[in-house]
Amino acid sequence: MQKITFPKEFLWGGAVAANQVEGAYLEDGKGLSTADMITGGTKDKPRKFSPVIMENTYYPSHNAIDFYHRYKEDIQLMGEMGFKVFRTSISWARIFPNGDDSEPNEKGLQFYDDLFDECLKYGIQPLVTLSHYEIPWNLVVKYKGFASRQVIDFYVRYAETCFKRYKDKVKYWLTFNEINVATLAEGALNGLGLVQEQDLQSKEPIPISNLKDVPQERFEALHHQFLASAHAVMIGHQINPNFVIGCMINRITWYPLTCNPSDVLACQLQSRMFNDFCGDVMVRGEYPNYALKELEKLGVDTSYILSEDKKLLQEGKVDLYTFSYYLTNCVSTDPHAERVGGNVTGGVRNPYLSLSEWGWHIDPQGLRYTLNLIAERYPNLPIMVVENGFGAIDHVEKDGSIKDSDRIAYLESHIKEMGKAISDGVPLIGYTTWGPIDLVSVGTGELYKRYGFIYVNRHDNGSGDFTRMKKASFNWYQQVISSNGQSVMDDLK
Ligand code: BG6
Repeated sequence: MQKITFPKEFLWGGAVAANQVEGAYLEDGKGLSTADMITGGTKDKPRKFSPVIMENTYYPSHNAIDFYHRYKEDIQLMGEMGFKVFRTSISWARIFPNGDDSEPNEKGLQFYDDLFDECLKYGIQPLVTLSHYEIPWNLVVKYKGFASRQVIDFYVRYAETCFKRYKDKVKYWLTFNEINVATLAEGALNGLGLVQEQDLQSKEPIPISNLKDVPQERFEALHHQFLASAHAVMIGHQINPNFVIGCMINRITWYPLTCNPSDVLACQLQSRMFNDFCGDVMVRGEYPNYALKELEKLGVDTSYILSEDKKLLQEGKVDLYTFSYYLTNCVSTDPHAERVGGNVTGGVRNPYLSLSEWGWHIDPQGLRYTLNLIAERYPNLPIMVVENGFGAIDHVEKDGSIKDSDRIAYLESHIKEMGKAISDGVPLIGYTTWGPIDLVSVGTGELYKRYGFIYVNRHDNGSGDFTRMKKASFNWYQQVISSNGQSVMDDLK
């Protein structure tokens, strides 16, 4: 077999998001964000949205893993693993606490200056998401989040402030995390900040899946995010022509459960609307016809797409395609087909795949297939996997060791398939594992579901002193990076 190698400058690293690690939720002038209004949950107990912060209620983002105060130690550990890149997000509400403030909060800006300097000290490039599943809470209450066109201007001002401030420290930017989750009702709250009045007035926390959904408004809000992103891309390129600015898509590759043409057609629709629609708009700069037709069938009136919007979408096309990949799911027209969970949304059980403890399919080959699909769809566009990881329960042994062999096996099998995809001709430039350090889970709000190479001694009941400890995967990943992937590829059978 031909020897497979990763490109020389391949960007190995890890990814986190502000609200899942920082904590310090009201420190140094930070305002509340949508993420701060969501309670903890478990695999079986849904997270809830609470319109005001309630006493005796656990909100995981408020302390998270205290990265705000401990980032130096954490970045040093990432430097020790040899990271080339560290993906994190800026908390919008640290920079503009209310979203519509006329001046940015200097202390917030300074925090990210210090953080990026710390990365650069170890030769780690920051890859920055401007909005990772959160927007300032005030924008929700006052403007209904991205349902309002005015919020586009606030976002653009925020993006411009960050671009100008960090133009010599950050080259890689992503405008919105997993923008495509807004195609689902579950995606209305976090990133879009779209909450209906009746839910805002609720006296009790509401399970996220019970929030009232108005698809017309949700798709309009998504359109506003497309415009905000395009505008930011244009401004970013003016501020620094070397910026590389990408879209970020939650990729769940769907397989038809059977070769029954009805399953195949249902799968095509699901793939188009969840995986392809948003990427097509951001990469090609226009709405694909299939999406316009589908929105029409859903009863969405798309007259909110103005002619000047079409021009802007063309002018603000992204330079890079990034995505998260955890699992694949099946699609079936059989209402009795067994269903399983998934990241943001579930699907139909694939009998050929095993499941993680959180019920997510494990499908390394699906990553190779997905990478090839993307490369074919958007020829010549660099691609980066910016999230991939294994959420599992970790046990600290008596001697303090943490043997996370299942995590190593998961990541190793996915890296092998990335290598094969590169050998297929996919222009993959980097890979950031999700949660190189344990962090708050978005889906369940737990810390019990751990992703890291670095263990954090903090638990869902609020106990633990936040001490960091290396897991077995720490040294394993260090070797992967120092050998540029060869330690994994060499034992390819
Ligand atoms: C991605 C998100 O969808 O999945 C992350 O971008 C999230 O923020 C990750 O943490 C894993 O999901 P979970 O539910 O295990 O945190």
